[in-house]
Amino acid sequence: MEKTTKTALITGASSGIGYELALIHAKNGDDVILVARREDKLNELKFLIHEKYPVKVEVIALDLAQPESPKILFDTIVRMDATVEYLINNAGFGDYGKFTETNWEKEQQMIQLNILALTELTKLYLPLMVERKSGHVMNVASIASFLPGPLMAVYYATKAYVLHFSEAINNEVADHNVSVTALCPGPTISGFQDAANLGDSKFFQSNKFPSSKEVAEYGYQAMLKKKVVAIHGASNRWMVFFLRLIPRAMVVKMVRKLQGKK
Ligand SMILES: NC(=O)c1ccc[n+]([C@@H]2O[C@H](COP(=O)([O-])OP(=O)(O)OC[C@H]3O[C@@H](n4cnc5c(N)ncnc54)[C@H](OP(=O)(O)O)[C@@H]3O)[C@@H](O)[C@H]2O)c1
Repeated sequence: MEKTTKTALITGASSGIGYELALIHAKNGDDVILVARREDKLNELKFLIHEKYPVKVEVIALDLAQPESPKILFDTIVRMDATVEYLINNAGFGDYGKFTETNWEKEQQMIQLNILALTELTKLYLPLMVERKSGHVMNVASIASFLPGPLMAVYYATKAYVLHFSEAINNEVADHNVSVTALCPGPTISGFQDAANLGDSKFFQSNKFPSSKEVAEYGYQAMLKKKVVAIHGASNRWMVFFLRLIPRAMVVKMVRKLQGKK
């Protein structure tokens, strides 16, 4: 009998965690649809996957910070006649600096990408999964989802949205054999640091962070196990646990200190 392929739509597949998620899914023998702005990077990944694994790879170069992009993406995939079994909303970025000094256009795009594109793609795909009684959504949140984040205020707030949204909709669809996982990585080696101008942050200089591959492997397994909140790394899990015991005013001061200039 011919194997039915379980296609994954992965946003932000041109680097970091999304790139590694695409390789893992292809290694499992299933097709991937790769989305990001940098078409050359996506095509390099497509070539690499084709060299290694016998799966179909589609590349869709798109700026998901444009409000019309999620629907364009959905319609393009409808025309390909592919069924998205795994929706991986991974594309996202941050920005470093005091809110009074950061760039509004960049923050608007961040909110558009980290919140609105993720929500609209989920809105488009989740009802189809519920109807089929099969499918997984993975939304990439962060340990920032659990904290207010001075010097990255908008980014942390977008990730709080992703966590709460994912937990809530998972509760609504779990009875239909559909799961929603919020993957919460701590600081991870990827293109994130450059995109967020984190060169000045003490925190992002002074630690040994896990690779994108390690985080992607953890997240992918968590999604298959239908884990709702998947925090990568024992120290991050401990931190999230202890946060509940500390007054919020103290938490915000701690984050400010950690993220201060080096
Ligand atoms: N690295 C960390 O420390 C860390 C920690 C917690 C959570 N996260 C989250 O993990 C996710 C993946 O980030 P990463 O660490 O792997 O960073 P990354 O290497 O910078 O990857 C980000 C991906 O998002 C894509 N992207 C950015 N803007 C886009 C846009 N407007 N339209 C379409 N795609 C866009 C990028 O591709 P193009 O530039 O080609 O468009 C890239 O493929 C993000 O949601 C991030 O917030 C990261």
